[in-house]
Amino acid sequence: MKTNDHRPKRIGVIGAMEAEVETLRAQAGTAEPVRLADMEFCEGRIGGRELVIARCGIGKVNAGICAQLMISHFHVDCVINTGVAGSLDAAIDIGDLVVCTDAVQHDFDITPLGFRAGEIPYTGLAAFPADAYLRSAAKEAARRAAPKIGIFEGRICSGDQFIASRAQKESIRQRFGGLCCEMEGAAIAQACHLNHIPWVILRMISDKADDSEEVSFQLFAETAARNCAGIVRMMVEML
Ligand code: ADE
Repeated sequence: MKTNDHRPKRIGVIGAMEAEVETLRAQAGTAEPVRLADMEFCEGRIGGRELVIARCGIGKVNAGICAQLMISHFHVDCVINTGVAGSLDAAIDIGDLVVCTDAVQHDFDITPLGFRAGEIPYTGLAAFPADAYLRSAAKEAARRAAPKIGIFEGRICSGDQFIASRAQKESIRQRFGGLCCEMEGAAIAQACHLNHIPWVILRMISDKADDSEEVSFQLFAETAARNCAGIVRMMVEML
C-alpha cells in the first residue's frame, strides 16, 4: 500500500467540535495556536509527521474556509476530516466507522435548472472522490486501533442541517444513497478538490439520524468523536 510518492509530510486534520480535536492536539504537543477566521490552528507532530489541527466549528461554510486556510496558509499536503455522523443505513450502527469514498452536499439543489441533485454547476461533479491511498490507510488504521468496530466504506452526505427525522433521512438516502450524514465533510472535499489536495473523511456514527437522535447524539457524540480521533492518530503514524 505504501509508496513514497503518496506519503504526506504535513497533514491537516479538521474536526468541527472540540471533542473531535482536543486529544489529537494534546498528543501532537502543539505550540501556541494561530488564530485565523476565528478558528484556532495548532501545529505539532505525531510519529515524525507534521500536523496542523483545527476545530472549524459547525457547518459547510466554516469547514470550507478552514480547509482553504489549511492549504493556502499552512501548506498541508493532505487533509483528514474526523468527526461524528448520523447513520443513513440500517446496517450501520452507533459506534461504527464510515470511511468516505466520495462526499456530496445533500442540500445543494439546482435541479429546477436541469442539474443533477447535488451537482455543482459547471464542474460536472456532484460527489467529490476521496483519495484512494488515504482511504486504504484509514481502513487499516481503523482495523488496528479499533478491531471490534464495524468499518464501512461509502458516500458521505453533508448539509447545513442536523438530520433528525425518518422522512429527511429517507429523502437523502433515496437521492444520494449515502451511508451517513454530517455537516462539514463535502465542503472540505470541495475545497481540497479545487486545490488538487488529497483528502479523506472518517466519521464515527453517533446517532441514527431519525426521531431517536436527540438522546442518542447527546449520549454518544463525545465518545464517538474521541474514538474517531484515536483512529486518525493511528492513521497519521502509519502514513
Ligand atoms: N452529525 C452527527 N449526527 C448528525 C446528524 N444526525 N445530522 C447531521 N450531522 C450530524
